[in-house]
Amino acid sequence: MAPTTAAERLIVGDSVQLWLCRNEDLSEAEAVDLERRWLDERERATARRFVFDHDRGQYLVAHALVRRVLALHTGVAENQLGFWRSHRGRPFLEPPVGGWPFEDEGIDFNLSHTRGVNVIGVTSHRRVGVDVERLDREDVMTIDAVSEAFSPEEQQWLAGLPEGARRRGVLRLWTLKEAYAKARGLGLALPFDSFAFALDGERLRSFRPPRDDLGGRWQFVELEPMASTLLAAAVEVVGPDIPEVHLRTGFPWTPQPPLVLDMPVRADVEQYSRR
Ligand SMILES: CC(C)(COP(=O)(O)OP(=O)(O)OC[C@H]1O[C@@H](n2cnc3c(N)ncnc32)[C@H](O)[C@@H]1OP(=O)(O)O)[C@@H](O)C(=O)NCCC(=O)NCCS
Repeated sequence: MAPTTAAERLIVGDSVQLWLCRNEDLSEAEAVDLERRWLDERERATARRFVFDHDRGQYLVAHALVRRVLALHTGVAENQLGFWRSHRGRPFLEPPVGGWPFEDEGIDFNLSHTRGVNVIGVTSHRRVGVDVERLDREDVMTIDAVSEAFSPEEQQWLAGLPEGARRRGVLRLWTLKEAYAKARGLGLALPFDSFAFALDGERLRSFRPPRDDLGGRWQFVELEPMASTLLAAAVEVVGPDIPEVHLRTGFPWTPQPPLVLDMPVRADVEQYSRR
């Protein structure tokens, strides 16, 4: 595709942009075509290593989505975008030779993909982490096992939930924890019992950060953007303003106007955030 023009470019500004795309939003032929036209040699080599077609297909859609979304936000053509990865594997945008075509918004992004669903979060001059999980995953044993890695207060909260609500509780905590760990760039290297979320019905009440961080530095969004799908984003707080959350769905050949949501403010940081 031709580079995004100034008129087409989507400015992130003081918002969090969430883009959700199901695998079926791109046909198999389109995904293969975009692999050839947009993905770099490293991505193509990764795609070749998947044993199962559905895993390869998921990877292609996720990485085509990353390139399309970042092209829309930066104005750099999809196949010209460059990336570098931290020693823990977190990808970052590489500034192009000759500089960004438009104002450098200090874009940060994060990707999550799971069983047919891909999500990318994009922010400007702050960090973002996202995680998406399916509620209808069949690995019940794994659900029990993952909660054992949680903090004592989270395990206590889960133990008090009715049987039918526990699975959802575990996955809500898991998506929040992964989103935070991914915003920090630490992933699973961050012990999941070193920080905790307190949930209250459908609301996030408080966040106890790990010892090396401040709770007020982060805001969190929890969404169920489609049936049986939980999405969480961790967003760094920069300055006094609470960013808006913009959600778009589908593969963004031509991006549609977003659904605009308010970023929920936790009771335990309300004062800090509104100062
Ligand atoms: C990041 C991690 C939590 C991903 O978990 P997951 O549930 O399997 O996957 P998700 O779909 O939510 O996210 C995967 C995406 O997160 C991004 N990612 C990878 N490592 C990341 C990190 N450390 N922090 C933030 N994001 C990361 C990538 O874009 C990745 O997709 P890609 O590999 O297709 O580009 C996990 O793989 C991890 O902990 N990695 C770090 C491992 C590490 O510390 N390695 C050190 C060298 S041994």
